[in-house]
Amino acid sequence: MSDEIVRVPTGIYGLDPLIEGGIPKGRTVLVSGGTGTGKTIFSMQYVISGAEHGEPGVYVTLDEHPDMIRQDMLRFGWDIRKHEKKGNLAIVDVGSAKVGFPSEEKFSLPQVGLDVDRLLLRIMQIVDQIGATRLVIDSFAGLGLHMDREDDIRKTILKINYMLKRTQTTALVTSEIPEQSFGAGPMAFSKYGIEEYVADGVIVLHYLGIGTESNRSLFVRKMRGTKHNEDVLPMEITKKGIMVKKPEEAYKV
Ligand SMILES: Nc1ncnc2c1ncn2[C@@H]1O[C@H](COP(=O)(O)OP(=O)(O)OP(=O)(O)O)[C@@H](O)[C@H]1O
Ligand SMILES: [Mg+2]
Repeated sequence: MSDEIVRVPTGIYGLDPLIEGGIPKGRTVLVSGGTGTGKTIFSMQYVISGAEHGEPGVYVTLDEHPDMIRQDMLRFGWDIRKHEKKGNLAIVDVGSAKVGFPSEEKFSLPQVGLDVDRLLLRIMQIVDQIGATRLVIDSFAGLGLHMDREDDIRKTILKINYMLKRTQTTALVTSEIPEQSFGAGPMAFSKYGIEEYVADGVIVLHYLGIGTESNRSLFVRKMRGTKHNEDVLPMEITKKGIMVKKPEEAYKV
C-alpha cells in the first residue's frame, strides 16, 4: 500500500472538490441520516459512477428488494441491469434470507443460518468474484444486531470493519440516525453510537421538509486524512442524482 493517500471520487455532484478530491482509498465512510434523507440514492450514485468508469462495485441491500432499487434508480437514468450484465455491479440480496424466503437474485445468501460471519464471508467472496473496488452496505441497522452488551456490539462492529479493510475496497455503510438525537444532548450519528468512531469518515444527510421549500443538506462530519469543508451544505436531489451546492451558497453551522 502506498504511503500517499489515493482519492476515490464519490460521483456526488459538487462533493469531491470539498473533500480533497474524494474518499481516501480503502477507507470506510458512514453515510448517516434519518429516513428519506437520501442515503440509498447517495450510495448507489457512488457505485454507479464507479461502474461507469470501469470500477466494479458491490451493493449489499439488507432492507430493500433489489427490484425496487433498480426501479427507483432508473428515475435518475441509472441502468443498474446494464452494469450488472457487464459485470461491473453486483447487488447482493440479503433481505430475502433475513425473512426466510428464497431469493431469485444472482447474488444472495442461503435462507437458513444467516449470521454476521456468514454474511461477511459471502460479501468477501462476491467482492473477489467481480473484482470490486467499491462496496456499499445499506444499511447497518438492517444487520439487526440483537446484542444487549456494548462489548459484543463493539466487537461485531470491529469485525465488520476488519472485513471491510480486508477487501481493500473503499466502502460506504449507511446508518440511521435515531430521531431523538436531533435537538438537545450530544448528537449521535448511528444506531449504536459506536459506528462513527470506527468509521474513517462520517457524512451526515439531513432533511427538513416544511412547506414548499425542500430543505436538504449534507455535512462532512469527519474524514480522516482530509482537510474537508466544514459547512452544512445545501443539497438537492436532481433528475441526475444528488448535487451538493457550492460552499459560498452554504450557510455556516
Ligand atoms: N426521482 C427522484 N427525484 C427527486 N427526489 C427523489 C426521487 N426519488 C426519491 N426522491 C427523494 O428521496 C427520498 C428517498 O431517498 P432514499 O431512499 O435514498 O432515502 P434513505 O435515506 O435511504 O431512506 P430510508 O431510511 O427509507 O432507507 C424520497 O423520500 C424522496 O424525497
Ligand atoms: Mg435507504
